[in-house]
Amino acid sequence: MARLHILEFPDPRLRIRAQPVDTFDAALKKLAEDMLETMYAAPGIGLAATQVDVHRRLLVLDVSEQHDSPLVLVNPRLLKASGREVCQEGCLSFPGIFADVERADKIRVAAQDVSGKPFEMDADGLTAVCIQHEMDHLVGKVFVDYLSPLKRSLLLRRLEKQRRKAG
Ligand code: NI
Repeated sequence: MARLHILEFPDPRLRIRAQPVDTFDAALKKLAEDMLETMYAAPGIGLAATQVDVHRRLLVLDVSEQHDSPLVLVNPRLLKASGREVCQEGCLSFPGIFADVERADKIRVAAQDVSGKPFEMDADGLTAVCIQHEMDHLVGKVFVDYLSPLKRSLLLRRLEKQRRKAG
């Protein structure tokens, strides 16, 4: 396994729309494993292929505290969404930045596993939030897009400041 480089905002490649995965081979399995390793190491609870500069519809997540419940969603599609909840979100492409975002609180998703086998799953709470956040990345959308222009510019200024401090 290998750790991958995570693109950080405002890298324009974060705006690329991912294409469907059509080849379910060893390279796809390796990519999913590398993405999980990269996500755990960051540490984070979700990572979309877009964030590692692979523009295919693939995301990984694990919201468990023990890091023992990895999920890989290939070609995910939202089938149903209901309820609203506000959750404080972060993103590995925005280190140190957090903001409240409102999303559906219950979802049903259709996807394929790394072998191409289709499945459906229901999710709520943090898992639902995480899946919606990562699915946004696959269409070139990031969580600060949901914020008001004022709130967004405040956060992005903070991101710049932290980056300068980190050298
Ligand atoms: Ni993110």
